[in-house]
Amino acid sequence: MRKLGVGMAGYGFIGRVHAHAHRSLPLFYRPIPFQTELLGVATSTESSGRMAQEEAGFHFHTRDYRDLLQHPDIDIIDVCTPNDTHFDICRDAILAGKHVYCDKPLALNVQQAEELAAMAESSTVVCQMTFNYRFVPAIMRARQLVESNLLGKLTGFRASYLHAGYIDSTRKHSWRVSKVRSGGGAIADLGSHAVDLLRFLTGPGSNVERGGEWESVSATLQTLIPERPDAAGQPVAVDVDDIAIAQVRLSGGALGTLEASRLATGAQDNLKVQLFGLKGSLAFDLMEPNWLDVYDAREPEGELGGNRGMKRIEAVARYPQPYSLGVTKNTVGWLQFHIQCLFDLVNSIDRKERALPPSAYSPTFKDGLAVQRIICGVQQSAATGSAWTSLQ
Ligand SMILES: NC(=O)c1ccc[n+]([C@@H]2O[C@H](COP(=O)([O-])OP(=O)(O)OC[C@H]3O[C@@H](n4cnc5c(N)ncnc54)[C@H](O)[C@@H]3O)[C@@H](O)[C@H]2O)c1
Repeated sequence: MRKLGVGMAGYGFIGRVHAHAHRSLPLFYRPIPFQTELLGVATSTESSGRMAQEEAGFHFHTRDYRDLLQHPDIDIIDVCTPNDTHFDICRDAILAGKHVYCDKPLALNVQQAEELAAMAESSTVVCQMTFNYRFVPAIMRARQLVESNLLGKLTGFRASYLHAGYIDSTRKHSWRVSKVRSGGGAIADLGSHAVDLLRFLTGPGSNVERGGEWESVSATLQTLIPERPDAAGQPVAVDVDDIAIAQVRLSGGALGTLEASRLATGAQDNLKVQLFGLKGSLAFDLMEPNWLDVYDAREPEGELGGNRGMKRIEAVARYPQPYSLGVTKNTVGWLQFHIQCLFDLVNSIDRKERALPPSAYSPTFKDGLAVQRIICGVQQSAATGSAWTSLQ
């Protein structure tokens, strides 16, 4: 079996998840065009690098990601570092002729994202984003249903991604609550996933007529815990949002809402998406990922309701071939979405090598740029008293 070498930049929370996905690929898909092999890892300290090597089986560790770029057997750079490093690592990886797999968000701002998307477009390598929620079977089914015109003309949508992780005001200050290091708080962190899902289901590539471009946004951002302690216990200012709420207008006329919060007490990983059309509607809840709720207004209505009503589609783990575990009735889980997202990268590289056009379902750097534009539009609107702000 052919193997492509992987150099991973960053091995914190998501690095371990990506490492798990790389190791799982040959167990989940048969046939698979090639396997990936964890060769090198770059982290910010010697001890974290050593731990990554021991835990995940990398051949070597380094403190300088450029060592990964120089390694002749490394074909893919997997970017799992804080957001302020994405631009340099992605740019240098593309220049070194390596495929890039970058976790969200693509960069800190639109200018950086535009540069990376342009480089990706003109390069011979594959550059993809980790937008893992595209790869939930229920979401894949939702996209199929949108494409088959279940919804008719899109009228509205709601997306909310709520966490509770920052309720504790003694949680340490980190890159995640620093604007220059993260590019934004809840809106960049959680909002980026919600925006990508909405775009994936309603926007270009799915069906432009029914959704269309994200035209304008009116938003409010709120920081409720204005400082957090550093490692020495000293207070440091927080300059990103804890909560983001936006109204969004699409060019097709649909009006929707987008909400992200890290202060939603009681929430775990509460990502919800609802789409409403003149002919039907769809609803997905990440806390119940086995199901897709579907309403088809074409079903006959009767005196006592007829057959019309909300239906739960049993998406469970019904991934398409070559998903090869044999049994698809199992409940599906978060790690699996990451594995399928990585499998999509493998497929994209294979398609590129065979000169086939890219799949419309793959999250590209162009998608990363589109999401970045919306995040920045939300921030710009909030900075101007929620003024309606063009996203074009
Ligand atoms: N898709 C998802 O589900 C998901 C979930 C969590 C995080 N993320 C994204 O993953 C990225 C990392 O988040 P995390 O939670 O793993 O962060 P983290 O703080 O847990 O880990 C960051 C890692 O990067 C390393 N690092 C920092 N600067 C570096 C540099 N210059 N060169 C090499 N290594 C460096 C650190 O040593 C650490 O290993 C972020 O972009 C975040 O938005 C995505």
